Amino acid sequence: MAQEAGRLHYNGAVVEQARQWVRSAPAVVALTGAGISAESGIPTFRGSDGLWNQYRPEELATPEAFARDPRLVWEWYQWRRELIAKAEPNAGHRALVELQDRKKDFTLITQNVDGLHDRAGSRRILKLHGDIWRLRCTVCRADWPDRRVPLPKLPPHCRCGGLARPDVVWFGEPLPDGMFLEAEHAVRAAQVLLVIGTSALVYPAASLVPLARASGAKVIEINPEETPVSSAADCSLRGRSGDLLPRLVAPD
Ligand code: OAD
Repeated sequence: MAQEAGRLHYNGAVVEQARQWVRSAPAVVALTGAGISAESGIPTFRGSDGLWNQYRPEELATPEAFARDPRLVWEWYQWRRELIAKAEPNAGHRALVELQDRKKDFTLITQNVDGLHDRAGSRRILKLHGDIWRLRCTVCRADWPDRRVPLPKLPPHCRCGGLARPDVVWFGEPLPDGMFLEAEHAVRAAQVLLVIGTSALVYPAASLVPLARASGAKVIEINPEETPVSSAADCSLRGRSGDLLPRLVAPD
């Protein structure tokens, strides 16, 4: 078995061990990040091809940026909506649907706003950072789904006349009410936490990993790169989620 500084690598025996942990756990939580959608052709945020390498988050993903130039922010979201609309869920998204169908207690927590988990068939999803396919009024706070690509007019407005924004969480904003408590509750009850395709640098999402460890759950990471989670994980599989997740959820 390949092992380096206490960290397990991706090989058949390690994947099999992780598969057994997943198989025998009554309660499983999956925490996903941008990496799970990478194989669908959606760029991640960090890394050499990442969005934050080409764009400055403070100009596009903060409430201050939106107040300054709503049209510019909307143009960026419009571009991302166009990109995502052309993408299809991949084998990684589908494997999590299989796991949901097989487990009595399964919770999917995602930092992604792209909606590919929904399109794959995942049902109850804790979307910590919101949903790019929903809009929210900055005046009356109404929120609604809108999948039109492109949107007919930028920036879009609410029926009440107020300016609408993407229903996503920007830097400096709180997560949707009560959602993180629900995520913590699920993690505390789980025997396995799968940490998939996230750089684990953004909080509070990243704090679910030490919480899982403290609650006695096995932490299984899937990521082609090393992250801050890797050394603490019970098993860190270096590979792509579209390859590894179907193997992890495969029945006997
Ligand atoms: P990041 O872009 O920070 O990290 C993506 C991770 O996916 C990296 O660790 C990659 O190595 C990994 N990865 C790439 N391809 C993969 C593949 N095929 N299979 C598995 N993993 C792969 O994205 P997040 O961690 O999701 O927040 O970022 C967290 C938050 O930061 C985002 O939700 C967003 C961003 O700023 C907001 O916009 C509020």
